[in-house]
Amino acid sequence: MNILAIESSCDETAAAILSFDPTSDRHQLLSNVVVSQIDLFKAYGGVIPEVAARSHLEAILPVIDRAFSDANLIINGQSNWDKIDAIAVTNTPGLLGSLLVGTLTARTLAILHNKPLYPIHHLKGHIYSNWLTDKEYAPDSPCFPLLALVISGGHTQIIRMTSHNHFQIIGTTLDDAVGECFDKVAKILGLPYPGGPAIAKAALSGDPQKYSFPHPNIKHLDFSFSGLKTAVLRAVQKECGVGLDFPSFELARHLSARQKADFAASFQSTACDILLEKLALALRQYPDTKSIVFAGGVSANQILREKASNLLSIFFPLPKFSGDNAAMIAMACAYEIKSGVSPSDPYKITLASRQEIC
Ligand code: KG4
Ligand code: ZN
Repeated sequence: MNILAIESSCDETAAAILSFDPTSDRHQLLSNVVVSQIDLFKAYGGVIPEVAARSHLEAILPVIDRAFSDANLIINGQSNWDKIDAIAVTNTPGLLGSLLVGTLTARTLAILHNKPLYPIHHLKGHIYSNWLTDKEYAPDSPCFPLLALVISGGHTQIIRMTSHNHFQIIGTTLDDAVGECFDKVAKILGLPYPGGPAIAKAALSGDPQKYSFPHPNIKHLDFSFSGLKTAVLRAVQKECGVGLDFPSFELARHLSARQKADFAASFQSTACDILLEKLALALRQYPDTKSIVFAGGVSANQILREKASNLLSIFFPLPKFSGDNAAMIAMACAYEIKSGVSPSDPYKITLASRQEIC
C-alpha cells in the first residue's frame, strides 16, 4: 500500500509517500519533501505562530505536488491518486494554526479522492522514525518491549511500548522540554534559532568540564530542565560580573567566543547526562527492555549519540529523519493500519495543541 503523509505541526511543511507491505513490513520511501521555515524565524529568534501558519498555507500544495513527482506518481501531468491507498496527517500536538493547514488539506484531499484518512500523533511519528531506512528493507528494527526517549522542542518523555501502537508514558518533563532548554540557553549565549544545532556547533571548540551545573534531584522517572536553564543564566551573569536584574538578551555581548563555546559544551554535556541518567533508571525499573529508541529533534545531537553508545540495542533515527518530516508520520500510520486501527471520518477529525500519546 502507498501512504501519503502530511506534517505541518510546527515550522516545517512536509509531505511524503511511503510504500509499505503490512505482511512483510517491507517498506520503501518513495518521496520525502520537507520545506523548513527556519530561515524565516532565525531573524526573530523563535517561531511566530501566525507567520508559521501563513507559510504552511503557501507551501502545502506545492510540497504535496512535489511528493508525487519525486515518487514518479504522475500521470498525464497530474498527481496519480489511483496509486494512493491512505492519507495520514499530524493532528496533534503542535501550533493550532499550523496543524489546521495540514489537517484541512488532508481531509479535503481524503474527501475529494475518496481515501481513508488517519490522524496521527506527532510523537508517534518521531518514535516510528526509527523504523525508516533508506534501503528497501530494515533488517534491524527495534524489538519489544522497548523504551523510547522522546526529546523534542515540546516534549521530554520516556515511553514504554510492549508492541506496535501501544504507548505508555512512564516519565515526562515537569517544566521545560529539553529542546526548549537548548533553544533558551542558545538565546542567552546569543546563538541563533534553532538553539540545538547552534549549541552543538559552538560546543565543538568548547570545554565540557569548564562549568558544572547541577542535576535535578527527582527520584522517579520525570524530568525537569528549567533549573538547568536558570543555572546557566546565573553562571553567565556571574562570568559577566552583572547582577540578576541585568537584561538577559544583552548578556551575550559581554561574552567572548571562547566563553560561549565553554558554556555551550558544559550545558550540552550536562543536558545529555541528565537524559541518560534517567534512561538508566528506567532500564533498571523495566529490566525486560529489549531496545531503546531515541526520537525527536534533540536525538540529532552528536554528543548524546556518543554518550549513549555503550547502551545495548539502541536506535537513533537517520539524521534526516530526526527533525520534523512526513515520512515518520507515514510510518506511524503504516503500523496503525497494521494494528487494525480504523480510519477517521474526515468530517469529524479534531485538532489539539496538546494531547498525550495513547
Ligand atoms: O522534533 P523537532 O524537530 O520539533 C518538535 O517536535 O519540537 O525538535 C526541535 C528541537 C529544537 O528545540 C531544536 O533546538 C532541537 O530539537 N535540536 C537539537 C539538535 N537539532 C535540533 N538539540 C540538540 N542538538 C541538536 N543537534
Ligand atoms: Zn517534532
